[in-house]
Amino acid sequence: MSTLKDVQTVCLTRGIIFPTAEIYSGVSGFFDYGPIGTILKQKLIKSWREEFVKSHSNIFEIDGSTVLPEKVLEASGHLESFVDPIAQCKKCKSIHRADHLIEDKTGKFVEGKTPKELTKIIEKEKIKCPSCKGGLMDVRVFNLMLKTDISPTGGQTGYLRPETAQNIFTAFNRVYRTTRSKLPMGIAQVGHSFRNEISPRNFIVRLREFSQMEIEMFIDPREKSCERFDEVKDIQINLVTQEAQQKKGKMIKITVGEAFEKGILPDPWIGYFLAKEFEFYKSLGIPEDALRFRHMLPEETPHYSEGNFDLEIKFDFGWKETVGNAYRTDHDLKSHMKHANVKLDVQTEKGKVLPHVVEPSFGIERTVAGILLHNYVEDKERGWDWFKFPAKIAPYLAGVFPLVRKDGLPEKAQDVIEDLKKEGFDVFYDESGSIGKRYARADEIGTPFAITIDYDTLKDDTVTIRNRDSTKQIRIHIKDLRVFLEAALRGLE
Ligand code: GAP
Repeated sequence: MSTLKDVQTVCLTRGIIFPTAEIYSGVSGFFDYGPIGTILKQKLIKSWREEFVKSHSNIFEIDGSTVLPEKVLEASGHLESFVDPIAQCKKCKSIHRADHLIEDKTGKFVEGKTPKELTKIIEKEKIKCPSCKGGLMDVRVFNLMLKTDISPTGGQTGYLRPETAQNIFTAFNRVYRTTRSKLPMGIAQVGHSFRNEISPRNFIVRLREFSQMEIEMFIDPREKSCERFDEVKDIQINLVTQEAQQKKGKMIKITVGEAFEKGILPDPWIGYFLAKEFEFYKSLGIPEDALRFRHMLPEETPHYSEGNFDLEIKFDFGWKETVGNAYRTDHDLKSHMKHANVKLDVQTEKGKVLPHVVEPSFGIERTVAGILLHNYVEDKERGWDWFKFPAKIAPYLAGVFPLVRKDGLPEKAQDVIEDLKKEGFDVFYDESGSIGKRYARADEIGTPFAITIDYDTLKDDTVTIRNRDSTKQIRIHIKDLRVFLEAALRGLE
């Protein structure tokens, strides 16, 4: 298996993703998307939006501000509890995540332990500074939010939002009423979030600015039903149960229907999202055995939650949470109701109720990292490495190449490309270098098809289409290109 480091190098050399402010040596935890990376990310979002938002008449998307007033984050608990434990070196003054140091040395999971308890473990295990081997100070906590002044005269504190979810909770009332909704109703949002991570690492896996695609599904807690559960109940997922983690057991394969019946899943809406996520991530080219849901242990689960299930992707450095799924009960609305002094309960046929919330929270950059790693092909035989992106997320669906740069072939190729662009396909033109070099360049950015215009095209309007994965070529008529490419986008070619 290739490593994410290999992929990071490829992304840099191909301008897909590179450090922010690179000419100033960059800044840790921030990355920019280049032209190819930008389209890949846009297509991922488009695909997610189709699958998780547009195909539901009761899920609405909003686009909220990235700066939030302090009051919101006081109500959400971020001001007080969105902290990481840190241990500073007495000698070189470098700062480290205390829980990571302990986990790396002992393999023991210590989330939820107090600074005092962590200090004790560090002393007992004789853990030293990983940079200079110096002794470590007592563990203290550090708030991860990035603070800013809202007004020029100061006095009003704001924060860059640490998650997109809070705009959704604060907008719930207005969206619910203006869309004339009934429960269940979902609000989705795609956008940037900010966390001042102590040790950003693993390329785009742990960043200080990243993007999320979140849904808060507001449901009636008295119902315990999901109108679309039947569509997904037979979908099998990979699941690591709490019991398996406690007793060193194995991952199981189970349908979401069975997992709900057995009481592992607290609500059918959780099952609905888990099934959809499993299918969605497979459709991004991530193999089934590199995907699993982990039922978080009681000590990792917030007190108000009735169950958290992380979708994890297997990377070369281990499994990593990429989508957090939580049954958040009425915790968020209740808290905002109290702090803002507004009513957020809604009228239903069974009387007033404060909705419960099921939240799937997708990390875009971790998803992109998973896509890049699992679609990367090191190909000695072909002589170049390439990406096997599925057509729906490939930055370009096809390259259009005139065989030679003369005799009217470039003009014919331009006609073909203009028509394909008008039809809405993402295609690019390339006439420089040998046809082999052009295939290589197209493969390197994961282009599923190469369309070549040759002398026969001038005679009979046919072109060759080379398939990136098999390298096989077929000949088809120009007028059939649209149907061919549409089928490819639907995964049929
Ligand atoms: N609203 C719930 C929430 O934000 P989370 O588990 O903290 O939950 C959800 O974050 C997802 O956001 C994670 O599964 C991960 O994919 C992504 N994420 C969180 N912190 C990140 C970071 N520092 N860098 C990149 N992605 C991050």
